[in-house]
Amino acid sequence: MRLFTTVAGLRSYLKSQRDNKTVGLVPTMGALHIGHQSLIERARVETEIVVVSIFVNPLQFTPTEDLQKYPRQLQQDSELCEKLGVDVIFAPSPEVMGMGENSNTSSSSQTTTVIPPATLTSGLCGQFRQGHFQGVATIVTKLFNIVNPDQAYFGEKDAQQLAIIRRIVEDLNIPVEIRGCPIIREPSGLACSSRNQYLTSEQKEQAAVLYRSLQWAKQAFIQGEIATEPLIQIVKQELASVPEIKIQYVELVHPNSLTPLLSIDESGLLAIACYLGATRLIDNIILRNR
Ligand code: PAJ
Repeated sequence: MRLFTTVAGLRSYLKSQRDNKTVGLVPTMGALHIGHQSLIERARVETEIVVVSIFVNPLQFTPTEDLQKYPRQLQQDSELCEKLGVDVIFAPSPEVMGMGENSNTSSSSQTTTVIPPATLTSGLCGQFRQGHFQGVATIVTKLFNIVNPDQAYFGEKDAQQLAIIRRIVEDLNIPVEIRGCPIIREPSGLACSSRNQYLTSEQKEQAAVLYRSLQWAKQAFIQGEIATEPLIQIVKQELASVPEIKIQYVELVHPNSLTPLLSIDESGLLAIACYLGATRLIDNIILRNR
């Protein structure tokens, strides 16, 4: 396995290795867990050269978020990548990526150059994380241009991010296939996240209510409930059983356009964001008629 910290180093290595081989990219912010692992394993099966990028992207943190505190553990991440048969880690500094560590506290618009359609960024998490998806779109586009992957792997856990990236790739004719990968969960149902490190063991148990609430809504949907309001009420009622959970939103939207639905025709994305103490948690489920 090779580790590169510069764009030139990575590009010249890939140029020398590529021939007609397929390249798979797994973009991450590090602090790797089994959710990331599932993306890497899939890339390993489906592509010949697997590149994992590890970069805590200042552009996607709003000024009040946890940029400084975000877990950084390159040594541990490298060991996992090596074990998983990754070919290349790309771990640039903010400067190499054209931004200072404090970009989010000054004017992030200086380097946020990819602006996805507002219809995709203004709802769900976008209403509470101003500039976040512009920051994601910019960094992911930069990574696509640096690596030129044939396939790139993203988790369905970040459903809004996935919808936005699919849209950018289509709108800008970026020659990459986007692979969405299922949400990996802890045995309790809690979706794996690097931010789960912030939770106490008691909070981890409490946080399992997000998945439980989505499962109740799924049950109701399977039994024929397709109207948005009752489905959302089921989620909110279950979430209310844990008083420490502070709901930010519970919404049902179309999985691609992210527009709010009154009822589910073919499929709907039921998405939650909550605070548990200072930690922000998200989860979602796709409800689909077969
Ligand atoms: P990060 O939070 O590190 O996640 C990297 C990738 O892993 C994302 O595609 C995310 O959806 C996926 N992932 C995280 N937890 C998962 C889980 N429990 N199951 C399945 N997939 C999971 O998302 C980002 O980083 C950044 O926004 C990034 C795309 C790297 C741009 O900076």
